[in-house]
Amino acid sequence: MKGLIVPICESTNQLAKEHGVQGAPHGFWISADRQTEGRGRWGRQWASLEGNLFLSILLRPQRTEHWTWVPMAATLAVLETLHGRWPSLQLSIKWPNDLWLDGKKLAGVLCESFSDQQREPFLVLGLGLNLLHAPESLDQKTAALGVGDSQILSLLREEIAKSIVQATDRLEESGAAWVEELFWRHTHFGKGSLVTWGSDPSGSSQGKVLSLGKHGELWVESEGKRVALYAEEIRGLRSAGD
Ligand code: BTN
Repeated sequence: MKGLIVPICESTNQLAKEHGVQGAPHGFWISADRQTEGRGRWGRQWASLEGNLFLSILLRPQRTEHWTWVPMAATLAVLETLHGRWPSLQLSIKWPNDLWLDGKKLAGVLCESFSDQQREPFLVLGLGLNLLHAPESLDQKTAALGVGDSQILSLLREEIAKSIVQATDRLEESGAAWVEELFWRHTHFGKGSLVTWGSDPSGSSQGKVLSLGKHGELWVESEGKRVALYAEEIRGLRSAGD
């Protein structure tokens, strides 16, 4: 798989988009040592300090019905890659696609769709992984792996890019059932957990985790009704079993 490493850019997602528009192939990736305008979900900034991993992968899956599962499948691929290297890490996924270490945010995924000059839609899957620094955040706790070795960084980058492309290909070939199965194995808030969501930091609504829907949405029971969450930021009040 071909990739490009640049010392600095605004955003690797932006750079990958520009390559995608020009027709770069499925699996092409871009990584930067530093970003000046790293983008997060919900229009937030992604603090991009040198020493962490910033990686964007161009994906051209043909079957659009699985696209909503790509970010979760990619997050689980990253989780399994890290587990493969460091089996004792306490990693979990927080719906929909945050990776947590010991209950603190270790990595985030931003998946964006664009189309190229042939008007073929494609995805850019951006991953920010805290290797060396845990950037301060006002609204959540963050963690880092504490890995500063440049050789490990470059091996990890290749392994992760490969595992994300493989996960996307597997989705194309066999659908999303395996993603759902892995999600429940690794989720921080399993079925029965009490979660909140909403705009204010304490959360304006709350409900109990029930299931995943066919697009990867989270179904919760709230005030006697079943409610679907599509991309909301959830926070945990109580994990199942607590
Ligand atoms: C989140 O808000 O949790 C998602 C953060 C995604 C950040 C990564 S860093 C590499 C890629 N380039 C960007 O501008 N954003 C993503």
